[in-house]
Amino acid sequence: MHLGTRNNLRRPSVGVVERALQKIEAHIAAADEEQLERLIPESQYAPLQRLRSIGRIIDHCELPATGSLVLDVGTGFGYGAVLLGSLGYKVVGIDSNEDRVRRGIALWNAVGLPVGESAQPSLSKDGSVILIHSSVADIEAEAVEKVDAATCFFLSGYMLKGDGALHQVAKHLKQGAPFFASTEGDISLSISERDGSVQALARRYQDGEISLMGLDFREYFKIREEAVYDPHLFRFSRAV
Ligand SMILES: C[S@@+](CC[C@H](N)C(=O)[O-])C[C@H]1O[C@@H](n2cnc3c(N)ncnc32)[C@H](O)[C@@H]1O
Repeated sequence: MHLGTRNNLRRPSVGVVERALQKIEAHIAAADEEQLERLIPESQYAPLQRLRSIGRIIDHCELPATGSLVLDVGTGFGYGAVLLGSLGYKVVGIDSNEDRVRRGIALWNAVGLPVGESAQPSLSKDGSVILIHSSVADIEAEAVEKVDAATCFFLSGYMLKGDGALHQVAKHLKQGAPFFASTEGDISLSISERDGSVQALARRYQDGEISLMGLDFREYFKIREEAVYDPHLFRFSRAV
Protein backbone atom coordinates (compact mmCIF):
# COMPACT_ATOMS: atom_id res chain seq x y z
CA MET A 1 0.00 0.00 0.00
CA HIS A 2 1.39 3.36 -0.94
CA LEU A 3 0.89 5.72 1.97
CA GLY A 4 0.41 9.34 1.16
CA THR A 5 -2.03 9.11 -1.70
CA ARG A 6 -5.23 10.95 -0.90
CA ASN A 7 -7.35 7.78 -0.74
CA ASN A 8 -5.37 6.44 2.18
CA LEU A 9 -5.61 9.64 4.16
CA ARG A 10 -8.17 10.07 6.91
CA ARG A 11 -9.10 12.66 9.51
CA PRO A 12 -8.66 11.27 13.02
CA SER A 13 -11.82 9.57 14.29
CA VAL A 14 -14.05 11.75 16.45
CA GLY A 15 -12.77 11.94 20.02
CA VAL A 16 -9.34 10.46 19.35
CA VAL A 17 -7.46 13.75 19.42
CA GLU A 18 -9.46 14.93 22.42
CA ARG A 19 -8.49 11.82 24.38
CA ALA A 20 -4.81 12.31 23.49
CA LEU A 21 -5.07 15.97 24.58
CA GLN A 22 -6.61 15.00 27.90
CA LYS A 23 -3.90 12.44 28.52
CA ILE A 24 -1.16 15.02 27.95
CA GLU A 25 -3.02 17.62 30.00
CA ALA A 26 -3.29 15.17 32.89
CA HIS A 27 0.50 14.69 32.80
CA ILE A 28 1.02 18.46 32.79
CA ALA A 29 -1.49 18.97 35.63
CA ALA A 30 0.31 16.39 37.77
CA ALA A 31 3.74 17.95 37.27
CA ASP A 32 5.45 20.54 39.45
CA GLU A 33 4.00 23.94 38.46
CA GLU A 34 7.05 26.00 39.34
CA GLN A 35 9.34 23.72 37.41
CA LEU A 36 7.09 23.98 34.36
CA GLU A 37 6.90 27.76 34.68
CA ARG A 38 10.70 27.89 34.79
CA LEU A 39 10.95 25.77 31.66
CA ILE A 40 8.19 27.44 29.69
CA PRO A 41 6.83 30.70 31.09
CA GLU A 42 3.12 31.07 30.33
CA SER A 43 3.91 34.13 28.24
CA GLN A 44 5.85 31.94 25.80
CA TYR A 45 3.50 29.65 23.92
CA ALA A 46 1.45 28.61 26.97
CA PRO A 47 1.50 24.81 26.83
CA LEU A 48 -2.18 24.08 27.38
CA GLN A 49 -3.41 26.63 24.86
CA ARG A 50 -0.87 25.59 22.23
CA LEU A 51 -1.73 21.93 22.66
CA ARG A 52 -5.50 22.60 22.38
CA SER A 53 -5.00 24.80 19.33
CA ILE A 54 -2.87 22.19 17.60
CA GLY A 55 -5.27 19.42 18.61
CA ARG A 56 -8.25 21.13 17.01
CA ILE A 57 -6.17 21.68 13.87
CA ILE A 58 -5.16 18.00 13.73
CA ASP A 59 -8.89 17.16 13.85
CA HIS A 60 -9.02 18.74 10.36
CA CYS A 61 -5.91 17.07 8.93
CA GLU A 62 -6.25 14.05 6.70
CA LEU A 63 -3.30 11.94 7.77
CA PRO A 64 -1.92 8.51 6.86
CA ALA A 65 -2.41 5.52 9.16
CA THR A 66 -0.94 5.66 12.64
CA GLY A 67 2.55 4.22 12.78
CA SER A 68 3.53 6.37 9.78
CA LEU A 69 6.41 8.81 9.97
CA VAL A 70 5.46 12.48 10.43
CA LEU A 71 7.89 15.40 10.27
CA ASP A 72 6.85 18.39 12.41
CA VAL A 73 8.70 21.37 11.01
CA GLY A 74 9.43 24.27 13.36
CA THR A 75 8.23 22.16 16.27
CA GLY A 76 9.31 24.70 18.92
CA PHE A 77 8.82 23.02 22.30
CA GLY A 78 7.44 19.98 20.51
CA TYR A 79 3.73 20.34 21.26
CA GLY A 80 2.65 19.14 17.83
CA ALA A 81 5.24 16.38 17.83
CA VAL A 82 4.17 15.03 21.22
CA LEU A 83 0.48 15.20 20.37
CA LEU A 84 1.02 13.36 17.09
CA GLY A 85 3.17 10.84 19.00
CA SER A 86 0.29 10.29 21.45
CA LEU A 87 -1.93 9.55 18.48
CA GLY A 88 0.43 6.74 17.48
CA TYR A 89 2.66 8.36 14.89
CA LYS A 90 6.44 8.14 14.71
CA VAL A 91 7.43 11.77 14.83
CA VAL A 92 10.53 13.79 14.15
CA GLY A 93 10.11 17.35 15.45
CA ILE A 94 12.76 19.72 14.19
CA ASP A 95 13.48 23.32 15.14
CA SER A 96 16.42 25.62 14.51
CA ASN A 97 15.95 27.33 17.89
CA GLU A 98 18.17 25.39 20.28
CA ASP A 99 16.70 26.94 23.43
CA ARG A 100 13.15 25.89 22.54
CA VAL A 101 14.17 22.34 21.69
CA ARG A 102 16.21 22.04 24.89
CA ARG A 103 13.37 23.37 27.06
CA GLY A 104 10.87 21.21 25.21
CA ILE A 105 12.85 18.04 25.91
CA ALA A 106 13.16 19.04 29.59
CA LEU A 107 9.41 19.79 29.73
CA TRP A 108 8.34 16.43 28.33
CA ASN A 109 10.74 14.59 30.62
CA ALA A 110 9.43 16.58 33.60
CA VAL A 111 5.82 15.64 32.88
CA GLY A 112 6.58 11.96 32.33
CA LEU A 113 6.17 11.91 28.55
CA PRO A 114 9.81 11.51 27.58
CA VAL A 115 10.90 12.27 24.04
CA GLY A 116 14.13 11.30 22.34
CA GLU A 117 16.70 13.76 21.14
CA SER A 118 19.27 13.49 18.43
CA ALA A 119 22.46 15.32 17.74
CA GLN A 120 22.05 14.37 14.07
CA PRO A 121 19.43 15.89 11.80
CA SER A 122 18.28 12.43 10.77
CA LEU A 123 14.83 10.84 10.73
CA SER A 124 13.88 8.54 13.60
CA LYS A 125 13.17 4.92 12.76
CA ASP A 126 12.39 3.54 16.18
CA GLY A 127 8.73 4.38 16.66
CA SER A 128 9.29 7.17 19.16
CA VAL A 129 9.01 10.94 19.23
CA ILE A 130 12.32 12.63 18.70
CA LEU A 131 13.13 16.35 18.90
CA ILE A 132 16.07 17.68 16.96
CA HIS A 133 17.79 21.01 17.10
CA SER A 134 18.56 21.77 13.46
CA SER A 135 17.31 23.67 10.48
CA VAL A 136 15.06 21.56 8.30
CA ALA A 137 17.47 22.50 5.50
CA ASP A 138 20.14 20.36 7.16
CA ILE A 139 18.30 17.05 7.41
CA GLU A 140 20.67 14.46 6.05
CA ALA A 141 20.43 13.53 2.39
CA GLU A 142 19.50 9.89 3.03
CA ALA A 143 16.25 11.10 4.59
CA VAL A 144 14.91 11.96 1.14
CA GLU A 145 11.39 10.61 0.43
CA LYS A 146 11.05 8.88 3.80
CA VAL A 147 8.29 10.93 5.37
CA ASP A 148 4.58 10.00 5.12
CA ALA A 149 3.22 13.40 6.19
CA ALA A 150 4.52 16.74 7.45
CA THR A 151 3.09 19.47 9.62
CA CYS A 152 4.06 23.01 10.54
CA PHE A 153 1.91 24.60 13.22
CA PHE A 154 1.88 28.37 13.67
CA LEU A 155 4.30 29.12 10.86
CA SER A 156 6.25 32.36 10.82
CA GLY A 157 6.18 34.45 7.65
CA TYR A 158 9.90 34.13 6.97
CA MET A 159 9.47 30.36 6.64
CA LEU A 160 7.62 31.00 3.37
CA LYS A 161 10.41 33.02 1.80
CA GLY A 162 12.52 31.52 -0.98
CA ASP A 163 15.20 30.28 1.42
CA GLY A 164 12.72 29.49 4.21
CA ALA A 165 12.02 26.20 5.94
CA LEU A 166 8.83 25.39 4.06
CA HIS A 167 10.68 25.09 0.76
CA GLN A 168 12.82 22.35 2.33
CA VAL A 169 10.00 20.00 3.28
CA ALA A 170 9.02 18.43 -0.05
CA LYS A 171 12.19 16.46 -0.69
CA HIS A 172 11.70 14.47 2.52
CA LEU A 173 8.09 13.55 1.69
CA LYS A 174 7.00 10.49 -0.19
CA GLN A 175 5.26 11.29 -3.46
CA GLY A 176 1.71 12.51 -2.84
CA ALA A 177 2.26 12.82 0.91
CA PRO A 178 0.40 15.70 2.60
CA PHE A 179 1.87 18.76 4.26
CA PHE A 180 -0.31 20.86 6.56
CA ALA A 181 0.74 24.36 7.61
CA SER A 182 -1.21 26.61 9.97
CA THR A 183 -0.87 30.31 10.62
CA GLU A 184 -2.50 32.91 12.80
CA GLY A 185 -2.90 35.07 9.71
CA ASP A 186 -2.03 38.56 8.58
CA ILE A 187 0.69 39.49 11.04
CA SER A 188 3.11 36.68 10.36
CA LEU A 189 2.46 36.56 6.64
CA SER A 190 2.99 40.27 6.10
CA ILE A 191 6.70 39.67 6.72
CA SER A 192 7.09 37.75 3.50
CA GLU A 193 4.17 38.75 1.31
CA ARG A 194 3.51 42.26 0.05
CA ASP A 195 -0.22 41.53 0.30
CA GLY A 196 -0.63 40.56 3.93
CA SER A 197 -4.05 38.91 3.71
CA VAL A 198 -3.93 35.17 4.19
CA GLN A 199 -6.83 34.70 1.76
CA ALA A 200 -4.88 36.63 -0.89
CA LEU A 201 -1.89 34.42 -0.23
CA ALA A 202 -4.05 31.33 -0.69
CA ARG A 203 -5.34 32.70 -3.99
CA ARG A 204 -1.78 33.20 -5.21
CA TYR A 205 -0.94 29.59 -4.35
CA GLN A 206 -4.18 28.49 -6.00
CA ASP A 207 -3.40 30.45 -9.19
CA GLY A 208 0.14 29.09 -9.31
CA GLU A 209 1.53 32.60 -9.03
CA ILE A 210 3.68 31.44 -6.13
CA SER A 211 4.52 27.98 -4.81
CA LEU A 212 6.47 26.11 -2.19
CA MET A 213 9.28 24.11 -3.75
CA GLY A 214 8.16 20.62 -4.77
CA LEU A 215 4.68 21.00 -3.32
CA ASP A 216 1.28 21.24 -5.00
CA PHE A 217 -1.22 23.55 -3.32
CA ARG A 218 -4.41 21.64 -2.43
CA GLU A 219 -6.62 23.78 -0.26
CA TYR A 220 -6.91 26.56 2.25
CA PHE A 221 -9.58 26.99 4.88
CA LYS A 222 -10.18 28.69 8.18
CA ILE A 223 -11.02 26.66 11.26
CA ARG A 224 -13.71 28.48 13.20
CA GLU A 225 -13.16 27.28 16.72
CA GLU A 226 -12.33 29.41 19.70
CA ALA A 227 -9.46 27.22 20.92
CA VAL A 228 -7.59 27.66 17.63
CA TYR A 229 -5.51 30.78 17.40
CA ASP A 230 -3.61 29.77 14.29
CA PRO A 231 -6.82 28.90 12.40
CA HIS A 232 -5.71 29.39 8.78
CA LEU A 233 -4.83 25.96 7.44
CA PHE A 234 -3.04 25.23 4.16
CA ARG A 235 -2.85 21.76 2.70
CA PHE A 236 -0.15 20.93 0.18
CA SER A 237 1.00 17.62 -1.18
CA ARG A 238 4.34 16.45 -2.47
CA ALA A 239 4.28 16.81 -6.23
CA VAL A 240 4.21 13.45 -8.03
C1 LIG B 1 6.01 30.48 15.59
S1 LIG B 1 7.04 29.13 16.05
C2 LIG B 1 5.90 27.77 16.14
C3 LIG B 1 6.31 26.69 17.12
C4 LIG B 1 5.37 25.46 17.22
N1 LIG B 1 5.17 24.82 15.95
C5 LIG B 1 4.05 25.81 17.85
O1 LIG B 1 3.02 25.61 17.20
O2 LIG B 1 4.02 26.24 19.00
C6 LIG B 1 7.92 28.78 14.53
C7 LIG B 1 9.13 27.92 14.75
O3 LIG B 1 9.76 27.60 13.52
C8 LIG B 1 11.16 27.48 13.73
N2 LIG B 1 11.89 27.54 12.45
C9 LIG B 1 12.00 28.59 11.59
N3 LIG B 1 12.77 28.28 10.53
C10 LIG B 1 13.18 26.99 10.72
C11 LIG B 1 14.00 26.09 9.97
N4 LIG B 1 14.59 26.46 8.81
N5 LIG B 1 14.20 24.85 10.44
C12 LIG B 1 13.63 24.46 11.61
N6 LIG B 1 12.85 25.27 12.36
C13 LIG B 1 12.62 26.52 11.92
C14 LIG B 1 11.44 28.65 14.71
O4 LIG B 1 12.65 28.46 15.41
C15 LIG B 1 10.20 28.60 15.61
O5 LIG B 1 10.42 27.85 16.79
